[in-house]
Amino acid sequence: MDRIKNPFTPGAGYLPPELAGRNQVIDDGNVVAMRTKLQRAERGLMLIGQRGVGKTVLLKYLSERARENGIIPVVAEIRNDKSDLEELVLKLKEALYILDFKCKMKACIQEAFSVLGNFVKKFSLNIGDVGVSIEPHRGFGESGNLELDLSQVLLSSARAAKASSTAIGLYIDELQNLNEDAMRGIVVALHRSAQELLPLYLIGSGLPTIRTLIGKSKTYAERMFVYEMIGALDEDASWAAIVKPFEDNGVSVEDAAFTEIFKASAGYPFFLQECGYQVWQHAEHSPILANDVVSILPQVIENLDRSFFEVRFDRVSAVEKKFLMAMADGEPEKPQAIVDVANRMGRSANSLSMMRRSLIKKGMIYSPSLGMVAYTVPMFGAYMRRISESAATASS
Ligand SMILES: Nc1ncnc2c1ncn2[C@@H]1O[C@H](COP(=O)(O)OP(=O)(O)OP(=O)(O)O)[C@@H](O)[C@H]1O
Ligand SMILES: [Mg+2]
Repeated sequence: MDRIKNPFTPGAGYLPPELAGRNQVIDDGNVVAMRTKLQRAERGLMLIGQRGVGKTVLLKYLSERARENGIIPVVAEIRNDKSDLEELVLKLKEALYILDFKCKMKACIQEAFSVLGNFVKKFSLNIGDVGVSIEPHRGFGESGNLELDLSQVLLSSARAAKASSTAIGLYIDELQNLNEDAMRGIVVALHRSAQELLPLYLIGSGLPTIRTLIGKSKTYAERMFVYEMIGALDEDASWAAIVKPFEDNGVSVEDAAFTEIFKASAGYPFFLQECGYQVWQHAEHSPILANDVVSILPQVIENLDRSFFEVRFDRVSAVEKKFLMAMADGEPEKPQAIVDVANRMGRSANSLSMMRRSLIKKGMIYSPSLGMVAYTVPMFGAYMRRISESAATASS
């Protein structure tokens, strides 16, 4: 097929040709945004799930819907480095500029700029000029306590949004990487906003460890959010994700061919896109037959190994690799007890706790409940088996 017209989008955060199977969560995200805009207290939304399931795509999609509905989205990705706060505050500054156009009560917007300016100065953030020559709003956003100051910055921005009859929506990706003080600052601001009916909300996305970060921030924080597990697509949604883009481009797909794609991808969005992309690339005729799919699957798996699995596996140390390998000897797609992993390695569970922590920090595993671990990357166990087999073949 014409490579230029290939509709599939394997990648990170690329809007797919068909955003399949996510109507409910899209609806939930829109309800949070619109209720907050109407100044009805509403819990925020956390989109949590493994790698490559479509969290970033959803977050961006929801932020665009919010923008179309007159809300001001503040979209940021947390990388766990010094620039995180700068990115967040820079995006807030941009939101204030938009509010500046809309806001009839200039005192509110000036106060928000002023508090933001204090904060930028206090935390030596490099985000350029805050841009208004006004009397500083002394004592707000400049105590040096990140939790308190960030909450004041957010609250003054929310007041400016209220004065402009709109809302500010925080759409924060990879939220599990956020610094704990900053998380507390956001939680405090959201809590006060809900109590004072200020139009500020948070839709976050990232790995399931977000729950722990939120739980640790304040005793009441966990109840402030609804957690939606984003996972593999079911068969109908996978069908829409694959067959519709082919058909929209004049190519039909035999049921048996779709079944092969569904089996190989297990409905995981990134894998579906990679399969669709490769099938399109290599197919020479319509309809696509099961054989067309089967013949290119080794190529798909090789691409996935190189672009998706290997880059992650290469980030961990040799002993951590052994831990990940030991997880693959159980039921790798399910959460497993750390004690069982330790037994397989011939060690005690206690002696693995540092390693476990390091792998969680590196985003390779997460702990779904006490004493349990799971891979953050879907189908990682099958990859582990592929590399053990190829190592065994190489040494024989
Ligand atoms: N609902 C969907 N239907 C079909 N394809 C999808 C869907 N959601 C996402 N995709 C595709 O899946 C891939 C992964 O999406 P995305 O980058 O949003 O995942 P993610 O969960 O944010 O991954 P990570 O945790 O690695 O950041 C992209 O190629 C995207 O086009
Ligand atoms: Mg993402």
